[in-house]
Formats: sequence, C-alpha cells, structure tokens
Amino acid sequence: MEFAQIQTNLNVLILAAGLGTRMRSNVAKVLHPVCGLPMITHVCRTASALMPEKIYIVIGYQGERVKQFVLEELDESQVEFLWQREQLGTAHAVSMAKEALAEKDCTVLILSGDVPLVRPTTMAALIQKHRSHRGKGASCTILSVKLEDPTGYGRIIRDETGLFERIVEHKDASDEEKKVKEINTGIYCFESRKLFEALSKVDNSNAQREFYLTDVPRILREEGEAVAVYQHNDPREVSGINNRMELAEAEQILRKRIVKKMMLDYGVTFIDPNTAYINEYVNIGQDTTIYPNVSIEGVTEIGEGCVIRSGTRISNSRIGRNVEILDNCLIVDSEIADDCIIGPMAHIRGKTKLERKVKIGNFVELKKTTIGEGSKASHLSYLGDATIGTNTNIGAGTITCNYDGRQKHPTIIGNDVKIGSDTMLVAPVKVGDGAVTGAGSVVIEDVPSDSLVVGVPAKVKKKLKKEELIEVKE
Ligand code: UD1
Ligand code: MG
Repeated sequence: MEFAQIQTNLNVLILAAGLGTRMRSNVAKVLHPVCGLPMITHVCRTASALMPEKIYIVIGYQGERVKQFVLEELDESQVEFLWQREQLGTAHAVSMAKEALAEKDCTVLILSGDVPLVRPTTMAALIQKHRSHRGKGASCTILSVKLEDPTGYGRIIRDETGLFERIVEHKDASDEEKKVKEINTGIYCFESRKLFEALSKVDNSNAQREFYLTDVPRILREEGEAVAVYQHNDPREVSGINNRMELAEAEQILRKRIVKKMMLDYGVTFIDPNTAYINEYVNIGQDTTIYPNVSIEGVTEIGEGCVIRSGTRISNSRIGRNVEILDNCLIVDSEIADDCIIGPMAHIRGKTKLERKVKIGNFVELKKTTIGEGSKASHLSYLGDATIGTNTNIGAGTITCNYDGRQKHPTIIGNDVKIGSDTMLVAPVKVGDGAVTGAGSVVIEDVPSDSLVVGVPAKVKKKLKKEELIEVKE
C-alpha cells in the first residue's frame, strides 16, 4: 500500500492516559512490553509509518514515563503530548486535542495505546475506506471485528437494514445486545470538525459514569452524518489488551510474526519456531540456524551462517558471520567478530569485544574485555577489564583480580602469551608479548615479554629463548 496517498490532511491521536486497572500492575498499561517493546512504542511505530502531519498522544497516568518511551521511538517534531490530568473516559481524552485539531480540516485517526499489533496497512485501508465512503467520504468510520467471545468490548448495533446505529459498551448492554459478536476495536477515523462538535454533546450517563467516545458515532448519525463501519477480518491484530492473559497472547502473535518474517524473508532456520524469542529490532543473517529456546533481545545484529544452540540469550549485541554459540550462553552489550566459537555456558557482558576466531569455552566470564584474533580462553575463567592480544592462550582457571575492594583495574596481556592454569593476575598488571606464566602463579607485577614467571608471588625465572617459546606453546 502506498502511504503517500493517505498522508495528506491526516493526524493521528493515540489515547494512552489510562491506568489499565485490569492489568493489576503498578506500571501503566501502555508501558507493558510486547516482544521487548512497550505497547505504546508499537502503536507509535504504526502511526509513524503512515507519515501523518502529527501524532498527538494523550498522556496522564505515569505520563512522564510514557513520554520518555515515546521519545525514544519518535522524533520530537513528529509528536505532541496532551495531558489528561483526570481520566474521565475516552471522549474526555479525545477532547484534550480540541485546541490542536478542532479547527482543522483533516482526518483524525484514533488509536488506543493498548492495541499494539495493529498494522500500518490495515490503518491505511481504513483511512481509504473512510475517505471514499459513498464517493464523498464519511464523518466517522469505525473499525470493527467479529469475535467468538466479545465479552468486555463495546458492541456494534446495526438497524434492521444492517446500517450502523450505535455502539453499546458491554457494561451498558442488554442481554440481547451482549449476543452481538461484532465489536468496536477502539480504532476510528473522524473528520476533525465533526468529531469535536459532537464530542461536546457527550455526557456520562452510563454504567461507568465515563464520557464515552463510543457515543460520538451515534450522535453524528442522529445528526444525519454518514457513519461507516469497516469490518476487519483478523481479530487478533486489532484486539485491545486489557489483562495479562491478553498480553501473553499478543506476545505470542507478534513473536510468530517476527519468526515467520525471519524464515521467509531473511532465510533463517529455526529448529523450533515455537520456542524462538526474537524481539523487534533484531536482525539475523541468512543461513543462520537457531536451536530451541533461544532469546534474542534489544538491538541485536547476527550475521550470516551462525549457529546458536539451545538456552542462549543474546541482548544488545553484534555477532559476526559463521559464529558458533553453544548451549546456555548469556551475551549482553558485546561484539563478537566472525568465526568465533563461544560456550557452552559462557557469560559475555559489559562491552566485551572479541576479534575474529576467538574461542571462549565453558564457564568463562568476560566483562569489558577485548580479545585479539585467534586467542583462546577455553575453561573456567574470569577476565574483566582486560585487553588481550592475538594468539594468546588463557589457561583453565585464570582470573583477572580486577577489583581491590575500592576500584577496578586493568589487565593487559600481549600477543602469543601463554597464561598457565590457575594464574591470578592481580591488576593493574601487564604481561608482555610471548611471556609464559607457570600454573598457579600469582602475578602481582608486570611480566616482561618473552619471560617465564612462576610462583606466589610470581618471579621471573628466566628469559625464554626462541626455541623454548615455541616448545611451551605446543
Ligand atoms: C474501549 C471502547 C470499547 C472498545 C474497546 C476496544 C470506550 C468507551 N470503549 O473500551 O467500545 O470495544 O476500547 O479495545 O471507548 N484512555 C485515556 N483516558 C481515559 C480513558 C481511557 O487515555 O480517560 C485510554 C486508555 O489508556 C486506553 C484507551 O483509552 O489506551 C482505551 O481505554 P480502555 O479503558 O482500555 O477502554 P476499553 O474499556 O477497553
Ligand atoms: Mg482497552
């Protein structure tokens, strides 16, 4: 669909001031995440894809936090926040935009902050339908959907000829009306002037003592305006989230959408797509294989031809090509270059950077550490605040003692170094190129290059000859 056709005279209004009582949460409903992003962020992305003149967002409950999240997604010039200090209902929420929109000749697309799965193409189709209704456009077009179980939603009541008559909220509906399966999605297009004229006529004489936006289409119709209903065929896309069950369902639907796209468009293999937890903002290269129970979160990039085995979580990281990540690894805020092998059970965090062909084995923890090409730490190590050169081998049980109880200190290890098993590197400390530490050494002072140190504390035993260096390495 070509969004350029619908963007003129279009403004979007997102209602996001409510608490969301049914979530039973201290966090505003629209901030609950679906596939790693708050609901409001998903709605903002959809709105922004339509390229409207402006996106207005009604905020109230935890409004400052909602605002912060929105500004992570949208540019300040795209959006305007409208405070609704007291939440008196959806009509009251819309009236917050009166000053901004009442005098404008434009279409207002109203979205709820709690409908995160809605797609831009569906919105564009709604706007087109609204503008072309009976050749001259409608004053209001309601997006409806049929639900097997419509409990809780506002019902679309039609007259005997099938034309729209009114919306009745679940709590105000008669037993007969409750049987109606066609519901109001809470998504509408309105012609701005008509909307605000009718809004001033809404009262709160209903079961919830709220000012319902759902009264506006009825008022417009009574005044002889054209009100259309656009029935959508995918209930899951347009259903609002009101409780944690619906939140979990939305998560599953979006997760499936993401994984499907990865398989069909990106060429990624999932051994079990049902247990792949891939967030939005994740990119995975062609011919990468993801085993069951893998989570990939945040802004993460994974190259082509990688293998990621079960139980691994990767967050906000960049992984190169042909990287093999074995079972149960945790990788956070780090960069891993091509052809590395990681795990099983490795923990890589804090802006760690691995250059090509590095091997990190089981029970190795890396924090804020850079490791050069071809180096290895294969077993049971903690390497924190360290810089390690190329082709260096870190023996089993090596620890950088980077913390003296007050401060963190760096460890610098050169190229072609062999750190013997169980070496303690008491930082700050440097180990020169080609040096060797004996098993169990406690290194408290810098080690000159091409030297062998041993003992507690480690002392230089001898300067290594070239032949010896190679011998030790093998
Ligand atoms: C609303 C509709 C209902 C529809 C359903 C679809 C009304 C009266 N009812 O009901 O017909 O079937 O959505 O999901 O509109 N909000 C504010 N300020 C307020 C009240 C609400 O900003 O004073 C916001 C909420 O944060 C939420 C949205 O409006 O994002 C919808 O409010 P909610 O309370 O969820 O309405 P529903 O009862 O779901
Ligand atoms: Mg709702």
